[in-house]
Amino acid sequence: MTDSFAINRANWEERAAIHAAPNSYGVEDLIADPEHISAVVRFDRPRLGDVGGLRGVHLQCHIGTDTISLARLGASMVGLDFSPTALAHARALAEKTSADAEFVEANVYDAAAALGVERFDFVYVSIGALCWLPDVRRWARVVAELLKPGGRLFIRDSHPVLQSLDDAQPSETLALAYPYFERPEPMVFDDDTTYIETDARLHSATLTHQWSHGIGEIVTAVLDAGMRLTMLVEHDSAPFKALPGMRRADDGEWRLVDRPWRLPQTFTLQAVKEARMQHDKRAAVLLFSYGTLQDRAVQLANFGRELTGHADALPGYRETLVEIKDPQVVATSGKTHHPIVAPSGDPADEIAGSVFELTPDELLAADEYEVDDYARVLVRLKSGVDAWVYVSAAG
Ligand SMILES: C[S@@+](CC[C@H](N)C(=O)[O-])C[C@H]1O[C@@H](n2cnc3c(N)ncnc32)[C@H](O)[C@@H]1O
Repeated sequence: MTDSFAINRANWEERAAIHAAPNSYGVEDLIADPEHISAVVRFDRPRLGDVGGLRGVHLQCHIGTDTISLARLGASMVGLDFSPTALAHARALAEKTSADAEFVEANVYDAAAALGVERFDFVYVSIGALCWLPDVRRWARVVAELLKPGGRLFIRDSHPVLQSLDDAQPSETLALAYPYFERPEPMVFDDDTTYIETDARLHSATLTHQWSHGIGEIVTAVLDAGMRLTMLVEHDSAPFKALPGMRRADDGEWRLVDRPWRLPQTFTLQAVKEARMQHDKRAAVLLFSYGTLQDRAVQLANFGRELTGHADALPGYRETLVEIKDPQVVATSGKTHHPIVAPSGDPADEIAGSVFELTPDELLAADEYEVDDYARVLVRLKSGVDAWVYVSAAG
């Protein structure tokens, strides 16, 4: 099977080296001037608002120029990217600028696992991100998983209409040539150039696999992942020259010279992770599970649906096994012994598991499922959230 991610990573490895070269990506400006903010983040600022004191994660952070700019605006940042070369440059830049920014190597789709139990005040995504991902719904679920309840997604990316245009045609025509809607198969490009103004060329990894996602598909993915849309703005400009017949304005953005109002080039979308569940407007309750309630079959049997959870941990507890004598519970879980936890007295001990949002009725169904050896108690998890958990009734 073709590994599109491996193909794209090789391409980004080569590009990162070109982009980090002097006079390419504004790296020197960030080093020379401690007040300097990247052009991309400067454009975003009126919509981004104050990020001072917030903890943020920048997905597909590339060589870190935007991540470090957000840190300069007062946020404590983690940048994530799958290109080790891009991250090596990002780390070097963070060190040179003493920025509050660390960097993690991972595929976006694995971000929640790679970042551990931490949940963020905001997820930031900037230009040139979604086209590298085959499934926008999966991306939105990752974003929702990374956010604290009430946390915010901020994304400004290329508009799918711009991406569907034939860039070889004169800009009077604006001919649609590539998919607007998401398609399972990638668009395959072979191109030795990159989007910054440079004479440098890629020498080996010139192939890329890319995907389009329509605006409706992006919005629906965000809503279905449990976020509430708070902003959708379409811009007539982009921070790079996408087509012939464009001119750079004083704000550093490129627009069509001829009737720029014909073309949305980028969009900004913001959404807030709902503190309540979407499918049930009553207040959701949080349940931490370290055992069989994490199994899909157990969830379907008890709640009639599969739960979406995120990783967390329970400090100060130790785990043993308890024999289950209720034949129905054994039949549902397929296990005669279930894990059970009790306080250990040592805060360094911890139990790994998942936090799920349930309706109050579903919590009662979970009570029914758990045998009498378990008692449900409210605990504070490692991430700082309070959740119900079933612990040993014996104490
Ligand atoms: C166009 S750049 C983003 C640029 C960023 N807005 C900036 O100006 O610094 C796209 C980045 O996405 C990363 N990327 C592409 N696919 C990825 C994936 N599946 N997981 C993680 N990173 C990915 C690439 O390595 C690259 O650094």
